[in-house]
Amino acid sequence: MPIDRTDPPTGRLALFPGSFDPLTNGHVDIVLRSAHLFERVLIAVLVNPDKKPLFTPPERVEIIRQVFREYPNVEVDTFAGLLVDYARRTRASAIVRGLRAVSDFEYEFQMALMNRHLEPTLETVFMMPAEQYTYLSSRLIKEVFSLGGEVRGLVPPIVEERMRRKQGAGVQGAGAQGAGAGAQGAGAGAQGAG
Ligand code: PNS
Repeated sequence: MPIDRTDPPTGRLALFPGSFDPLTNGHVDIVLRSAHLFERVLIAVLVNPDKKPLFTPPERVEIIRQVFREYPNVEVDTFAGLLVDYARRTRASAIVRGLRAVSDFEYEFQMALMNRHLEPTLETVFMMPAEQYTYLSSRLIKEVFSLGGEVRGLVPPIVEERMRRKQGAGVQGAGAQGAGAGAQGAGAGAQGAG
């Protein structure tokens, strides 16, 4: 069946959806690449009531806004429900997803085709992060940090700082053993990655 493009989206808005719990430098890399390609990039933080996150969705939005505060074409919002419904509401023309390794492909391929089934005019664009970020994931960052490992350079400095604050407050998943310097001046922020 031919695709109905009689009501095309205006501008070139790309959605970059995800959990971002927390935002990693791999995410930052993909956002910056997308911001070159599209007029606007909207980072869409999934509100998932089933999960027990490290950062609440409003905390994640606040952190991500700070990371990209110098990028006027990068916006941040939350969404719940179907991604394609959110894409229709925001009149996005594409979904951006990062592909780190072949192991990502099957899940991403399924999601892209399901989203296309639900909304044929919405394209999914896959982008590869810089090689040094291909092993990064939010889940691993949380695990390493919680066991006292170093995450500097793997997440923006503000993320590291906020993780340390959670740790200080004794939040589960933010780690009990990690100690040491704060985030100031550490790691690659939005401008260093990409
Ligand atoms: O970073 P993540 O957690 O891998 O992101 C997954 C996300 C948010 C892109 C995906 O779970 C999603 O789109 N959820 C919204 C619900 C939805 O539309 N599900 C059908 C996807 S085919």
